[in-house]
Amino acid sequence: MFKKLFRVPPAGSIALVDTALGGASGAPFPPRDYLLIDAKLGEKRWSDEEALTERIAELVQRSISDRYPKPGTARRDAHPKSHGCVHAQFVVEPALPLSLAQGVFIPGVAYKAWLRFSNGNGDPTRPDSDGDGRGVGIKLMGVPGNKLLASEVHANTQDFVLITHPTFFADDPARYAALIERGTSASAFVAATAPLALGWKGMWIAKKMRSKRIASPLEERYWSTVPFSHGSGAGRRAVKYSIRPSVVGVSTIPRNPRPDYLREAMEAALATGEAHFDFLIQVRVEGMSVEDSRVEWLENEAPFVKVATIIIPSQIFNTPAQDAFGEALSFTPWHALPEHRPLGGVNRIRKVVYEAVSELRHRLNGTERREPTGDERFDPSE
Ligand code: HEM
Repeated sequence: MFKKLFRVPPAGSIALVDTALGGASGAPFPPRDYLLIDAKLGEKRWSDEEALTERIAELVQRSISDRYPKPGTARRDAHPKSHGCVHAQFVVEPALPLSLAQGVFIPGVAYKAWLRFSNGNGDPTRPDSDGDGRGVGIKLMGVPGNKLLASEVHANTQDFVLITHPTFFADDPARYAALIERGTSASAFVAATAPLALGWKGMWIAKKMRSKRIASPLEERYWSTVPFSHGSGAGRRAVKYSIRPSVVGVSTIPRNPRPDYLREAMEAALATGEAHFDFLIQVRVEGMSVEDSRVEWLENEAPFVKVATIIIPSQIFNTPAQDAFGEALSFTPWHALPEHRPLGGVNRIRKVVYEAVSELRHRLNGTERREPTGDERFDPSE
């Protein structure tokens, strides 16, 4: 059976809310339990949240154990198909207003980064020509300071996890649990029953997200869809992230696409040149929801601002060793400084689920869970 994944803190600790998160008093962060709510930034607990979160984590773990019974073969439950894991530089803009110059966003600072591009669907053998939500995990290395995950408080990494759609199809844990009770995994989608679980709004987002066909992962825009804190103390704000490629629409989908043509498109582009993305932050304005991940924060009301550039240098990444490295990485929005604390119910579920499934995946594969340094290289010519 599955072990208990977390303990609900006593009611008193939840009541710490606002000031506990460095509110008006500017107090430092308290014990970093995800059940603490930042009411000032608009977080609210969903009813029965902890039990539902535990149920979701249990179902996702079971799905992995069932689908990958052979030792050493376990993959991610969602986003198992990688188009490539590439090294990059993440360079913060040389000048930023104080309100944006928070956490890792120190003007002019450059970080080593790893980026893993993926398809969202739970079936890693699905051809790239099928519609899908695509994802990217961005991991910055050399980030000093204590991090939010108690089990990895001294990790030197900050992650950003984004997909090719600006909203997420489920907001409350009950809907998400209902969805995966009907399917077999977090990313499996039983078309006939999904509307019952998600409602029309969530269903519409899921349909749009999952019908996307793309020509190259390096030419797409990606969004965090869910919000994050930016800064600490009284001046903290709620923000969302996005990355925008410098090149859009140059590539086209091949007429007879091969199953892995997205990997091939990345391989061809990086064999001869670099790829760049702008990293953008959108600061929430009054009235925008932190809990409802199904509603977009409109850009004409809250514009995205460039805070960094991601430079992916020319490289040979398509090697078994680099792929194995990428598959052994663990991305989670909770690999984060307190200044970038994930917000909202979806992120709170992810805290429990990502840690649990990463732990299970590595255990089943007999691989070590270790954050990278950024100095790893697998191309013998480098
Ligand atoms: C309750 C909501 C969610 C659940 C239960 C969930 C579940 C998962 C799981 C189980 C994984 C695999 C993790 C691993 O094995 O290490 C994963 C990966 C991923 N998820 Fe989610 N997810 C949720 C919400 C989201 C949202 C809102 C986004 C939008 C950005 C997202 C984007 C991704 C991406 C891009 C990856 C792949 C990261 C990588 O390359 O390792 N997920 N998710």
